[in-house]
Parts: sequence; structure tokens; C-alpha cells
Amino acid sequence: GDGGGDGGDASNYPDQNITVVVPFSAGGPTDTVTRLIAEPMSEELGQQIVVQNVEGAGGTVASGEVANASADGYTVLMHHIGMSTAPALYQDLGFDPLEDFEMIGLVTEVPMTIVARSDFEPETLEDLIDYVTENADTVTLANAGIGAASHLCGLLFQDAIGVTVQEVPYEGTGPALTDLVGGQVDFMCDQTTNTSGQIAAGEVKAYAVTTPERVESLPDLPTTEEAGLPDLQVGVWHGLYVPAGTPEGIVTRLSDALKVALADQGVIDQMAELGTAPVPEEDATPDAHRARLEEQIETWGQIIADAGVEQS
Ligand code: MLT
Repeated sequence: GDGGGDGGDASNYPDQNITVVVPFSAGGPTDTVTRLIAEPMSEELGQQIVVQNVEGAGGTVASGEVANASADGYTVLMHHIGMSTAPALYQDLGFDPLEDFEMIGLVTEVPMTIVARSDFEPETLEDLIDYVTENADTVTLANAGIGAASHLCGLLFQDAIGVTVQEVPYEGTGPALTDLVGGQVDFMCDQTTNTSGQIAAGEVKAYAVTTPERVESLPDLPTTEEAGLPDLQVGVWHGLYVPAGTPEGIVTRLSDALKVALADQGVIDQMAELGTAPVPEEDATPDAHRARLEEQIETWGQIIADAGVEQS
């Protein structure tokens, strides 16, 4: 089918360390999910997995790098929903998400939360909408660069309320959250895998979660639909990629190791604590991953075009 080159010998794979590239800062949400599954995958594959953070341009720098890496299974990319929004957001991306990668499988779909510095005035999502509308000139919104999940969610928020605010880009929401806790920036949209701890500790103010259902680990937090912004729905799906042309046997080996990691009770428990869960086993496959990416490129391409976003 789509997947897999025929070159190379997969039978000895892997016989050296595998690098998994994370397209955002260490300590942030993508990094956290990657490190969670890296350990059981590494055990299953019998080789060390080295996590490497390659930041820049909302995840597109790392994607371009991995697209051009050797198709030998030793350079893997963890990326999220940003893989599907980038084609609509960038004029000259330099890689094609569907042509330049083999998909390994989906990993998890992480809810987002709308959070603010703890002394930010608005108390509820409705307050926030009013406040941002009235103070559009001064309010600041953090994100992890154009193409990041936080960027997409912030864009949907601004589009839904018809207001544009000043955006402050970071190389990941790890550092953005640090600044939010420190009060250097007002609010942002970020994944529960990054915000759960600070919400529980009261270090940030939380307004809503962007999924149709409440999140079990944050039971008091209303959904955007409950809180008055039903159009703001985002689930940050993640997947693993290798360069196009990677031998099918290697793709299968990685996909099988991913399935083992996602069935690991420690992974399930830690994800639950962070407000998320592994995808069902049938989604940790190249075919399910490719189908999701195709559908999401369509969906977000349309939404981004309708919102009139200018390409970078
Ligand atoms: C990160 O790891 O920093 C995030 O996934 C950034 C984002 O996409 O908002």
C-alpha cells in the first residue's frame, strides 16, 4: 500500500539507539507524552530511545528535519495535530505531511484547557470573553508558535469571539507555562499533559476544557460547550512518524512496540493523571494514523481558510 520502501534489511532492526525527535521544548506536553511511551517502547525494542528536542516554527523545523533524515528507522518524529494544520498555515512548508513520512500509529488525543495567570481578573469563561473583548489592546495570549496546538486553539478562541489580541510565541508551552505562572503573559490554551499539575496546585486559573466531555482528572472544570463557547473544540491527537521509504518491516516493528507501550499499565495510569489516555489499539497503526492525518488536513484546512488566517 502507501507504506514502506522495499530497501534495507529489517531483520536486525534495531541494532543501535533510536532517536525520537520532539518538535517543542523539553518539559512541555509533547515531550512529556514522548518520554512516557519511550521507556516501554525501548524495553520492547531492546534498544535505548534518545529523546531529542528540535524546536522552532511551531514544530515545522523538526518535521522538515525528520522528513529528510535517513529512512532507516533510527530517526522517529513525535508530532501532534500541528502536522495537519501546518499545510494551511505555511506558504512554503518544505515538506509534505502525507508524502514525506510513513506513519507508525496514533498515540493519544489530549484535551486542551484555557488557562490564565492566577491573578488574572476574569473568573469564568464568560468573564474571560468579556474581559478580552474590552481589553483587546493590552491582553496577551501565549502560544508555541504558528502550527502549535496552542496557536490553533488561540486562533479558534479569537475567531469565536471576534477579537484579535497580541500573541506571544514560545518554542513550546513548557516555557510559556512558566511565564504564565510567573505572570509575564495573561492567558493561553494548552494541553492537560502540561497544565494539570499547575491547575491542581492553583498556580494558574483554569476556565474550561476543549473536549465534549469533562476530563476525569479535572472534574470541576466545565467544557467549552457548558461554559458558553461550543465552537471551541480541539483534541490534540499525537502520532509517530518515520521518513518516507522506511522499510515496511521496520514500520511494523515500531508500530508493534507502540502498541505494547500503550497497553502498559504505568503509561495508562500516568496518562490518566495528566487528563488523557492511550488511543484504542486499532488506532496505533499506520493505516489509522494516515486516515486521521488525511481527514484532519481537510478539516483544519477548511476551518483555517474560513477564519481568513494569513499564511506565514
Ligand atoms: C509543546 O510540547 O510545547 C506543545 O505541544 C506546544 C503546542 O503545540 O501548543
